[in-house]
Amino acid sequence: MLRTHTCGELREEHVGERVTVCGWVQNRRDHGGLLFLDLRDRYGVTQVVADPDAGDAAAAADRVRLEWVVRATGTVRARPDENRNPDRATGAVEVMLDEFEVLSRADPLPVAVTGAERSAEELGLRYRYLEMRRPEVLRALETRAHVNRVIREFVHENGFVEVETPILLRSTPEGARDYLVPSRVHPGAFYALPQSPQLLKQLLMIGGLDRYWQIARCFRDEDLRADRQPEFTQLDIEMSFVDEDDVQALMESLLRRLVSEITGQDIALPLRRMSYAEAMARYGSDKPDLRFGLEIHDVSDVLAECAFGVFSGAVRDGGIVRCIALGPDHTLSRKQLDALPAVVVDRGARGVAWVKVREEGWSGPAARHLSDGEREALTAATGCAPGGTLLFLAGPRRIVEPAAGDLRLHLGKTFGLRDPRRFEALWIVAAPLFESDPESGRLLAMHHAFTAPRAEDVALLEREPLAVRARAYDLVLNGDEIAGGSIRIHDRELQSRIFGLLGISEKDAEHRFGFFTEALRYGVPPHGGIAWGLDRVVASLAGREQIRDIIAFPKTTSAADLMCQAPATVDEDQLAELHIGVTPDA
Ligand code: AMO
Repeated sequence: MLRTHTCGELREEHVGERVTVCGWVQNRRDHGGLLFLDLRDRYGVTQVVADPDAGDAAAAADRVRLEWVVRATGTVRARPDENRNPDRATGAVEVMLDEFEVLSRADPLPVAVTGAERSAEELGLRYRYLEMRRPEVLRALETRAHVNRVIREFVHENGFVEVETPILLRSTPEGARDYLVPSRVHPGAFYALPQSPQLLKQLLMIGGLDRYWQIARCFRDEDLRADRQPEFTQLDIEMSFVDEDDVQALMESLLRRLVSEITGQDIALPLRRMSYAEAMARYGSDKPDLRFGLEIHDVSDVLAECAFGVFSGAVRDGGIVRCIALGPDHTLSRKQLDALPAVVVDRGARGVAWVKVREEGWSGPAARHLSDGEREALTAATGCAPGGTLLFLAGPRRIVEPAAGDLRLHLGKTFGLRDPRRFEALWIVAAPLFESDPESGRLLAMHHAFTAPRAEDVALLEREPLAVRARAYDLVLNGDEIAGGSIRIHDRELQSRIFGLLGISEKDAEHRFGFFTEALRYGVPPHGGIAWGLDRVVASLAGREQIRDIIAFPKTTSAADLMCQAPATVDEDQLAELHIGVTPDA
């Protein structure tokens, strides 16, 4: 090794030892003839002191600039009390230089690698390898590796077999657009990168593998947000001869271990199971954040006859009225109240009505329409108390439910209730098997086309498909869907019925996943599984808002890699070889 110790290692016990450390020059200061250099590596920062008496070494050290990579040798000594740095693990000691070597020079850096101020996001992504020198970025990558290690131990202990599945595949049914790879050998034919290894893991069960796992890269060409990347990583799992409870029990014990290993906290098992319908009604979301209350109340019945037409009209038209009650300790200014409609406008909601509950009477735009009886019933339904505020949303259920959910999250954020150091997890179960496409009215698979319906709902499949519940389960942590899975269909007849309902003809199914439907003929064990969004798990455990913070080389929301400038155009020759012509600016 070029060094005897890392820059994070030296303590008082090393005083008197001759050591060598290597690192980047993070800081240099001249003090009365003495030169102080802070050397930084992944492990920490060590102060090196060059006394002019050190001759050549001191002269060489004097020439360094920030972010040069150097090697310093000297004797560890205790710092005088007044010069100790309690904020630094190595702050009690320093290295008195006697040998010095410049390993690599550096131009002035285009991004800030120290200090609280981070460079603009685009610049940070362009120079990701420099931004990585920031301790918080290195820590995030270490956390990610730690998560992977805990997972590896867990799956090994539980008898799972790691299998690598192909990246050059054909279209898989997760519902996003595919990334395609043209074939040179087969003109006009394309591979699709997997949106997930879903069909392959089911085939592994048919092959008798029994317990499969993989850390799998998935590719989806979809609209990106803070919690989505075009390529992301799943912890992918499939198990044979299991039902929902088996998968959930095992997976929640993994979550518990992860939370405990990474954050030192304990979560109580078994996790709560909440139906999709209840989650939508009480939290306005299929991934409720349970770190805080502010539950949503259904006040449709209470306000069905209300003199305020916005409320009664909504109920008359088959819609709903939902209410969030804020206690006296959560007050909103007039300006904050006026800003609420903007929070829900994206969902198509028309506004947020509010009422201030006061001893001396109720006030606010909606108050005068509320009868005494309605006030009493609202108080009973919401538990509101003097000093509190009631917020209302009225309209069609498909708009109001998610809008109330967004409003609740906004309030949670406004009042600082989303504590990043707390972990609240639950399972969402019994989601509908289908949803209907708002544009075409066609049925879409809510999870995916291979998810089994609940046995007791199978009779409803043709008659009332939207009422059929799926044998699916989503794992939610702090308002994030961190994993989703289901028990699969292992019966050929049932699978083709579901395809039929989804408008996938037999011919179409044959063409798209004939290899899979054929496999269903040859003896299929009942099976089920789950996939964790590993990026989201790590971000959550590391207390990060954006998954790109915990990805070494992330892409932007327009799916670009700013560092290597991908995607990029390629040579005409390459295109010709692939039998591809590009239409300019179509
Ligand atoms: P699903 O599509 O729900 O299920 O994906 C599983 C989990 O992956 C995460 N996730 C993403 N993370 C980052 N960027 C994205 N673009 C992205 N899309 C999804 C989410 C999600 O819960 N084959 C099924 C699983 C199964 O049934 O076993 C599947 O892929 O956290």
